[in-house]
Amino acid sequence: MIVTTKQLFAHAYGKYAIGAYNINNLEQCMGLFQGNIQSKAPFIVQISKGARSYTHKKMLEAMLKTADEIFPEAIFAIHLDHGDEETCMDCIRSGVYSSVMIDASDRPLNENIAITRRVVKAAHARGLVVEAELGVLKGVEEHVAAEEHVFTDPAEAERFVKETGCDSLACAIGTSHGAYKFKGEQKLRFDILEEIQRRLPGFPLVMHGSSSVPEEEVRRINAHGGKLEGTKGVDENCFAKAATLGVTKVNIDTDGRLVWTRVHREYFAQHPENFDLRPIGKVFMAEYAKFIQHKNVKLGSAGQVNNVREFLAKNP
Ligand code: G3H
Ligand code: 13P
Ligand code: ZN
Repeated sequence: MIVTTKQLFAHAYGKYAIGAYNINNLEQCMGLFQGNIQSKAPFIVQISKGARSYTHKKMLEAMLKTADEIFPEAIFAIHLDHGDEETCMDCIRSGVYSSVMIDASDRPLNENIAITRRVVKAAHARGLVVEAELGVLKGVEEHVAAEEHVFTDPAEAERFVKETGCDSLACAIGTSHGAYKFKGEQKLRFDILEEIQRRLPGFPLVMHGSSSVPEEEVRRINAHGGKLEGTKGVDENCFAKAATLGVTKVNIDTDGRLVWTRVHREYFAQHPENFDLRPIGKVFMAEYAKFIQHKNVKLGSAGQVNNVREFLAKNP
């Protein structure tokens, strides 16, 4: 069942976070649905601009509509990740997405507010919800690139949410996209989340750049010809604390890419005679599903589907 993130966040707020997983192809899609169904977790499918242009945006949309049909037990939102205004409008018109993210975080505050307001107006008119971003994560996120973190200012966040009418807010607290998040110790600014929660009680917050980049995954990749050096991710044991501070959505992409890389490197090293894509595809889908189940346990979303279903029945 395709739902909006608003409904999912209302159930999760203060108790657990929902996994928002980026996918690009059929194998990820199958593994994602199977993993979430096996762990009875509500979830968010994230489609980036890059994913939309990798094959064709309509291919992904058709795949997700079909997934809804073949997996009636799944409760999920279909969300555009890091959209610009034009892509948001396209997704709003598509009739497939239930949620979009407008990322104008590289623009001056007033411009970010104006762009976000336009997207909110168009999205709400069609029953979609909007995630916006304030503050900038270090690194590259689609059309936004930054040398250093610009942490979210809680006072600005309060004004931004009130003036834009957005439904959730991505906050910059020291995470970044990709496999190289920290040099040395992880330093996350939970104090910023605390202050935003004080100013905006009950308002759903989003943590981007939340892959944990497991050492064991990187070791296995490197043991089979990979060359990933100096990687560092977010400690996944911090999600429970983040959830109590209003984080209802945790974005994970890189860890899924690592699963893909590890599975393919190991499989072809162990089966050098193989040139068939289906045996490896099957291994990947199963491994991806296992990875999703593990994340959902860390996020606290595992086992929540029946409660969400009950909640939706009472709050249609
Ligand atoms: O924010 C970045 C996400 O991980 C999506 O990555 O733009 O390469 O699809 P992508
Ligand atoms: P990671 O690169 O840490 O997986 O972050 C993904 C993300 O924030 C997508 O929007
Ligand atoms: Zn992101």
